[in-house]
Amino acid sequence: MAKVAIIFYSTFGHIEKLSKVVQEGVLSAGGKADIYRVEETLSEDALLKLGAPATSTEIPVAGKDVLEDYDAFLFGVPTRFGNVPAEWSTFWDQTGSLWVNGTLNGKPAGLFVSTASYGGGQESTISNCLNYLVHHGMIYIPLGYKNVFPELSNIEEINGGTAWGSGTLVGSDGFRAASKQELKVAKIQGQTFYNTIKCLYASETP
Ligand SMILES: Cc1cc2nc3c(=O)[nH]c(=O)nc-3n(C[C@H](O)[C@H](O)[C@H](O)COP(=O)(O)O)c2cc1C
Repeated sequence: MAKVAIIFYSTFGHIEKLSKVVQEGVLSAGGKADIYRVEETLSEDALLKLGAPATSTEIPVAGKDVLEDYDAFLFGVPTRFGNVPAEWSTFWDQTGSLWVNGTLNGKPAGLFVSTASYGGGQESTISNCLNYLVHHGMIYIPLGYKNVFPELSNIEEINGGTAWGSGTLVGSDGFRAASKQELKVAKIQGQTFYNTIKCLYASETP
């Protein structure tokens, strides 16, 4: 069975919540996924001023050993100016030795995001994440439309997910909770991802 790790960064908890739902999706497809967070780089003072909740200590921090040990990844990234947060690039900036040795080459990865609003960077954040994947030779597995066509094409209800990956819109004040539909899409992304990588690991998957 392919070993899947879900690695996320979350300041306000939205991506953390989505990570748990993506994990349920992997489980529902017969897989297993462990959740990790990347290290916080903001000072406690800065976090307090932002009104961020205390970082939960029960989720372990991912080091580059996690990237080495696992076969496949689902990465959760909140948007910053349509791009990745500093914490995300700091995490990848520590992976130079993996890059030189091609350790991650061929490992599959999917991505999910959160943004304040529509057009706030759902797709650009994921496409910027692809720089890391491409340089490491990883295989990007998009969500696509196949299993989420009704949800992603529903223009009656707002949804932070796209074919690039599931997502949630948190609103300009950051208080909007993920809708049922967004959570459904996140779960389907976990399922779809695991069903896709099952094929890649077919000879190893019982
Ligand atoms: C410095 C900063 C920049 C941000 N830039 C954007 C942005 O460009 N577009 C957007 O929609 N939301 C933006 N946001 C909102 C965040 O994406 C939102 O707080 C985040 O998705 C919440 O996820 P989390 O609870 O997992 O941290 C920004 C937030 C901060 C603090």
